[in-house]
Amino acid sequence: MRHPFDTTFCVETSGLVCGRDLATGHAHDRYNTAYFGVAPSVFHALCAHWQDVPRSSALEQYSFIDLGCGMGRAMLLAAAMPFRDVLGVELNPELAAMAQKNVQLWKAAGRARCGMRVLCGDATEFEFPDNPCVAFLFNPFGRTVLRRLLKNLGRVFANRPGQLDMLYVNHECESLFKQHGGFTPLWSGSIYKSPADEEADRKIIYNQPEGEYAPSEYESCSAYRWTGMAGLDARSPAVVRDGASKQRRA
Ligand SMILES: C[S@@+](CC[C@H](N)C(=O)[O-])C[C@H]1O[C@@H](n2cnc3c(N)ncnc32)[C@H](O)[C@@H]1O
Repeated sequence: MRHPFDTTFCVETSGLVCGRDLATGHAHDRYNTAYFGVAPSVFHALCAHWQDVPRSSALEQYSFIDLGCGMGRAMLLAAAMPFRDVLGVELNPELAAMAQKNVQLWKAAGRARCGMRVLCGDATEFEFPDNPCVAFLFNPFGRTVLRRLLKNLGRVFANRPGQLDMLYVNHECESLFKQHGGFTPLWSGSIYKSPADEEADRKIIYNQPEGEYAPSEYESCSAYRWTGMAGLDARSPAVVRDGASKQRRA
């Protein structure tokens, strides 16, 4: 079962691979949730919500970084926007190779508006660039790894308030952002999939051999800004519309 995104753009990003089948020998393998490409309609809606929030830098100065890029679907979608560059980090080498192949196809078809690069490795070891960054997470790993990632980010961005935004789809461990203290919520809510995405995702999920994942019409999402630990006074204005923007199907 191929997602219409793949048939339309001649790439290979479909499928569901459960976390235990993605082992690489890394200590973080056990926290890997699964591979599943983000629904394009959800991706676009979350980016639109993020772009509604004021930023101090232009989009062209931001690196978009997909932490857990899988086969690269979110990277391909992001490269249609005028980011400074689009980077993907993937723990599993086979998925990283597939993402690399998809990126090459995307570039060859003239669809990339910026530079794109795939790195094979662990998200917590990624070295963030010095320019403004927006990191994307489609529920790639469990609490232990997310907690480590946020702790590292707190160190790396300690003197860079406002330089890191995070977009989180299927935000199962969202409470960690709230507990951390250095992140300010920008947006939170349920984003409904387009009918085409919902149908494709449902068919892919019903096709899984062991039936452990359940399809959903929507994804719970949130966006956060690193504002630092200096206290509320240093924080930039944030927009919070908790659950207020459900995008229901027509
Ligand atoms: C749900 S998929 C998301 C794929 C892609 N971001 C998208 O939206 O289309 C999560 C991906 O995160 C990867 N992943 C899990 N743990 C990771 C880690 N510690 N470092 C890097 N990638 C990881 C998985 O192998 C999987 O490919």
